Amino acid sequence: MTQDNKRKDRSILITGGAGFIGSNFVHHWCNTYKSDRLTVLDALTYAGNKANLASLENNKNLKFVQGDICDRTLVDNLLESEDIDTVAHFAAESHVDRSIIEPGAFIQTNVVGTFTLLEAFRQRWNNRSQPQSDRFLHVSTDEVYGSLEVDDPAFTETTPYTPNSPYSASKAGSDHLARAYFHTYGMPTMITNCSNNYGPYHFPEKLIPLMCINILLGKPLPVYGDGQNIRDWLYVEDHCRALDVVINKGQPGETYNVGGNNEVKNIDLVEQLCQLMDELAPNLPVSPSKELITFVKDRAGHDRRYAINASKIKNELGWTPQETVEGGLRRTVQWYLANSDWWKPLLSQEYKNYYAKVYS
Ligand code: NAD
Ligand code: DAU
Repeated sequence: MTQDNKRKDRSILITGGAGFIGSNFVHHWCNTYKSDRLTVLDALTYAGNKANLASLENNKNLKFVQGDICDRTLVDNLLESEDIDTVAHFAAESHVDRSIIEPGAFIQTNVVGTFTLLEAFRQRWNNRSQPQSDRFLHVSTDEVYGSLEVDDPAFTETTPYTPNSPYSASKAGSDHLARAYFHTYGMPTMITNCSNNYGPYHFPEKLIPLMCINILLGKPLPVYGDGQNIRDWLYVEDHCRALDVVINKGQPGETYNVGGNNEVKNIDLVEQLCQLMDELAPNLPVSPSKELITFVKDRAGHDRRYAINASKIKNELGWTPQETVEGGLRRTVQWYLANSDWWKPLLSQEYKNYYAKVYS
């Protein structure tokens, strides 16, 4: 936790704060900095969910605004009326499989939306005589670095960008814009490139929640290709703590890689989830749930391996992950078991149509 006695209160705009990581970040920030003011700007797309913030409904320091980051007038008004000095920018189209089916929304939100926010913040920052503690944190992904072979060294902050999907290409474009605004205008942008997150409020389309929910419903567990792809898993609370230290202690103009040092093959991860569910869930429709594992057609352009070298944020800002993958997966499975009221309404007709397109 980053607590500093001399710390000045912030008024922070959190874009995408009703999504998975954004909402976990809002919870983290409200618990940690009780006198900061928070404004959440979220369009409530299929991935946004006000229920993620339900327990904070009566928090006087938190304001929720439904709106689009591409709406320049709205963003200008919010920066002004809420006296914003800090932006934590999470809002994005975030799912690779959706970017393969319909890439347009990814360009609009991830590239045009980020540009809109940067321009609005630049105007305000100039009008405010460029205060020293203002920050614009652009939350990005390790996918911009492309794909690793099994023996390659992990991604560092200087690994060349090689995005392979429309999603990662759109995030790469937005990263370049954020970087350029520091280089050209001196605007205090910072970028974080993080590995795969997991934990509470993760939308059902992503690997871990999808497997948890399908086990509970007795549905097939679709593993793409040969299941040997590797991801570096980070518990979402650890990511939020990393973003906290970057906002409070990071250097403007810098990029920080964030990762869990937890490389796991997809098939091994799915088998761990099956074991946890067999242990923790009463009366599963199919048991052992491992029998549900089904190898399906591979994702187009599927990146083989991601791995993050997080030495810079550890050495310069003192951040390290606290949760192990075993502990984090157990907490996550317990959360999905205890919160069927949260995930059941998300299996909407829109979701079923999407599911049929990807898995048929
Ligand atoms: P998410 O899809 O769960 O949430 C995205 C949120 O953004 C939703 O609440 C959605 O309503 C909102 N949004 C979408 N378009 C918008 C628009 N035009 N205007 C305003 N709000 C809009 O995503 P997530 O997994 O929480 O990811 C958040 C950020 O972190 C993204 O930028 C993503 O690229 C990055 N990231 C995610 C991971 C991961 O593992 N999930 C890892 C590294 C980085
Ligand atoms: O690395 C960070 C990225 O992690 C973020 O930038 C993205 O926003 C986030 O969605 C995530 O991307 P991935 O594509 O790695 O996550 P996903 O959960 O979709 O898939 C994880 C792995 O599991 C990947 O190798 C594909 C595989 N997979 C996924 C699904 C949904 C399956 O085998 N079956 C599935 O049904």
